[in-house]
Amino acid sequence: MSKIVIEGGYSLSGEIRVGGAKNSAVALIPASILCRDEVILDNVPNISDIFALEDILKSLGCDVNYHNHCLRVDSSQMVNAVIPCDLSSKLRASYYFMGALLGKYKRVKMCFPGGCSIGERPINLHLKGFEKLGATVLEEDGNFTIYADKLIGDDIFLDVPSVGATINIMLAAVLAKGKTVIDNAAREPHIVDVANMLNQMGARISGQGTSKIEIIGVGSLHGTKYSVVPDMIEAGTYVIIASLLGHGLKVSGLVPEHIESLTSKLEEAGVHLKIGKNYIQVDEVTDYHAIDVKTMGYPGFPTDLQQVLVPFLVSCQGTSHIEETMYENRFMNIPDTVKMGANIRVNDAQFATVYGKSKLVGKNVLATDLRGGASMVICGLIAEGMTEVCNVGHILRGYEDIVGKLKGVGAHIEIVD
Ligand code: EPU
Repeated sequence: MSKIVIEGGYSLSGEIRVGGAKNSAVALIPASILCRDEVILDNVPNISDIFALEDILKSLGCDVNYHNHCLRVDSSQMVNAVIPCDLSSKLRASYYFMGALLGKYKRVKMCFPGGCSIGERPINLHLKGFEKLGATVLEEDGNFTIYADKLIGDDIFLDVPSVGATINIMLAAVLAKGKTVIDNAAREPHIVDVANMLNQMGARISGQGTSKIEIIGVGSLHGTKYSVVPDMIEAGTYVIIASLLGHGLKVSGLVPEHIESLTSKLEEAGVHLKIGKNYIQVDEVTDYHAIDVKTMGYPGFPTDLQQVLVPFLVSCQGTSHIEETMYENRFMNIPDTVKMGANIRVNDAQFATVYGKSKLVGKNVLATDLRGGASMVICGLIAEGMTEVCNVGHILRGYEDIVGKLKGVGAHIEIVD
């Protein structure tokens, strides 16, 4: 099992470049099978979730090639085979094959998706959407069979603006007959990205980025070349690191508007951010004061940055409050942060209070999940002494070359087996 070893306390300078968005790429890849031509995706991050999707595509008979952040998917010879459970359970996003295969073949069989254990994570809204389009959903012991004679557009209201359900319904509806309207849709940049690529393939989607998305079904889609949007969570992670350790540290290749919910909070705490067209830079670290954050769907503060922000709150003077509204298990990083010297009280699954400012000391800690793991890496970077983060497979699922990128700007960090 690999671990990340960090000697903390070094300031960082230079440039870190943000890659393509994981949560966009993991939807664009299943979307690529909706045509029978070649789809070329550029700026695809080199992370293990992408390799897991490649394996699923191969199991369906697609010709796939990934080189230098460019993924070519040729689905002309694909067959609608059952996706093996050991492949679909490797990542959450395998559920996008439900919408894509249902849209393409009107039939799909697969088991419940995997992913980080950050909460219950039901898929009832995805299934409700498929049913509204005319599909029958059968479930037995976590195995789903979803089929329809034909899919017919309908009005679908989402009880909560779910990212996964919004994208999955789009995937199923692009080739359906007639008009589908998704109301209370999620608005994240990756949803806009998926709609934009599908439109480039010949789909007729409008309203992406708003809470009402309209899809007029078309007869077929064709191949395209598309570049994945920059990863707002990776960007936010490095901007938080820059706020804590930046001495002329530039985070480049990002879209600043996508993380305004974060940058406005950092500025409220006292961070001096230099925000350019596609970069954010921190020239010096000063004293920061406590802030309160509440996670919300886009454009609110993302749940995926909540855990990553914890080391920052620990470094702020005063009492910060966190309200996590999305998941029941997103404080799993807190016990090890406390072990390193933080003073944090978890009130319940939703509320935590951070009493700052605390100095952290290096310890052996665990990456309990993807973002919790990134949070522990940040704790290690700011702590005094040596930190070892175990179970780093979680981190490598979502952060491309995190060790190389941090090392490149002066961090004392290694990955060892
Ligand atoms: N929800 C339902 N029913 C559903 C779907 C969702 O009740 O059918 C609830 C969830 O329980 C949650 C809320 O709706 O409370 C939002 O869930 P959403 O569907 O938006 O999340 P997701 O699609 O499962 C994606 C990302 C997550 C990210 C969330 C929120 C992917 C593969 N995953 O998950 O990413 O936290 O959106 O932005 O895109 C991560 O990258 O670390 C990660 C967990």
